[in-house]
Amino acid sequence: MTSIWEKGICVTVRNIVLVGFMGTGKSTVGKKLAERLGWSFCDSDAVLEEVQQTSIPELFRDHGEAHFRALETETLARILDSEGQVVATGGGAVLAESNRICMLQHGFVVALNATAETIIQRVSADTNRPLLQGNLEERVHTLMEQRKHAYDFAHTSIDTTDLSEDEIADRIIQQAVRH
Ligand code: S3P
Repeated sequence: MTSIWEKGICVTVRNIVLVGFMGTGKSTVGKKLAERLGWSFCDSDAVLEEVQQTSIPELFRDHGEAHFRALETETLARILDSEGQVVATGGGAVLAESNRICMLQHGFVVALNATAETIIQRVSADTNRPLLQGNLEERVHTLMEQRKHAYDFAHTSIDTTDLSEDEIADRIIQQAVRH
């Protein structure tokens, strides 16, 4: 079991799992949080790409989204078999119920939120997201609408719009300790 000490209080948390729409800062905050806790950091998309020896855009292009989602489920389950990690998940990993159950069983799940405007600004320079190809603003608004309740299952959620990475990490630690 893995412990977090905060202000003299010790709690046991197996992993911290970050979920949220693309561009909500799961990877950058996750790295910061892992450093603060002295835990390892794991990005499920990066692990999947490494194991498959290909990129997510290529997987979508060559095999389709359903194939990617099956690999995503396998990857997540394998990662969450270990503990003491901060895990950043892909924005759509929450869509499968089995993934949601796995996350809740193996960690403290934190949803990061941001406004559509913030997300559009953060992802506009990145062309590696197959689901955001085409008209970026339209894609973000449509997917956010489709997924408006997809992250509600998390133990807690944080609006990252006006917070620094350090402030977000602080809040996650405080909430994990209170949980
Ligand atoms: C996806 C989000 C991406 C990646 C894939 C699909 C999604 O991860 O898993 O492109 O369905 O929201 P990020 O949230 O890290 O961009």
